[in-house]
Amino acid sequence: MQIIHRVSEMQRWSDAQRQAGKKVAFVPTMGFLHEGHLSLVRAAKQAGDVVVVSIFVNPMQFNQQSDFAAYPRDDEQDRRLLSELGTDVLFNPDASEMYPDGYQTAVEVEKVSQPLCGAHRPGHFRGVTTVVAKLFNMVKPHAALFGEKDFQQCVVIKRMVTDLNFDLEIVAMPTVREADGLAMSSRNARLSPAQRQTSLCIAGALNTAQQLVGQGERRAATILRAVRDTISGQDGTRLEYASLCDPDTLEEVEKVTRPTLLAIAAWVGEVRLIDNRVIG
Ligand code: PAF
Repeated sequence: MQIIHRVSEMQRWSDAQRQAGKKVAFVPTMGFLHEGHLSLVRAAKQAGDVVVVSIFVNPMQFNQQSDFAAYPRDDEQDRRLLSELGTDVLFNPDASEMYPDGYQTAVEVEKVSQPLCGAHRPGHFRGVTTVVAKLFNMVKPHAALFGEKDFQQCVVIKRMVTDLNFDLEIVAMPTVREADGLAMSSRNARLSPAQRQTSLCIAGALNTAQQLVGQGERRAATILRAVRDTISGQDGTRLEYASLCDPDTLEEVEKVTRPTLLAIAAWVGEVRLIDNRVIG
């Protein structure tokens, strides 16, 4: 596996692959890789001839400096895992090259960035779309893969790709879960064993909602009340939001009459977790 730090070198490498007729598949990450990321890398190997994975903990998308500082990192293990999977390039740009002195440009997707996580993490999606647009210009992929655990992120990035005419395909892959249902996330490492157990209430709430819809319940207010009760019934949790919305526009619905996104963000102790499921 080749490790590239410089933007110009990354662009040269991708130009050469494209000229050789190779399809470049790209998985952007912030490192501390888990099975969710690895499933994206495996899918990228199917989607392209060569695979680039980036690791860049993007300061611009953290609305709290403490969250950025606490973001877990394990460079050595990440390199080993990516190399074992047969990744062609690990792109690990320096912050000084990503945001050099004098940097002043941002990419902002308006409507779909606003609800859900956007309402609670001001500036988050502006940071995501800015860095992802920059990474696309650096890696020049034919396809880029993202996990549906960050469902809103997938919607926002698809919108950006359409609106700005990026010439690439966005592939959204299903959430990977632990055996007991907890959605995999780099943040899970910050949960104590007791909190890890408590956090199962989030996947539990998604299941409850699906069951209610399966039994014929259509009223969003009733389904969301059950979601809130399931999560708030656990000590040490704080529900940030639970929303039933259209999976394309992210606009809230009053009735679940077609496939509908149930998106949840909840705090377990000091750890903020998100999860979602399309129900109906
Ligand atoms: O999903 C993530 O890990 C990040 O938001 C991404 C897409 C790598 C941008 O920094």
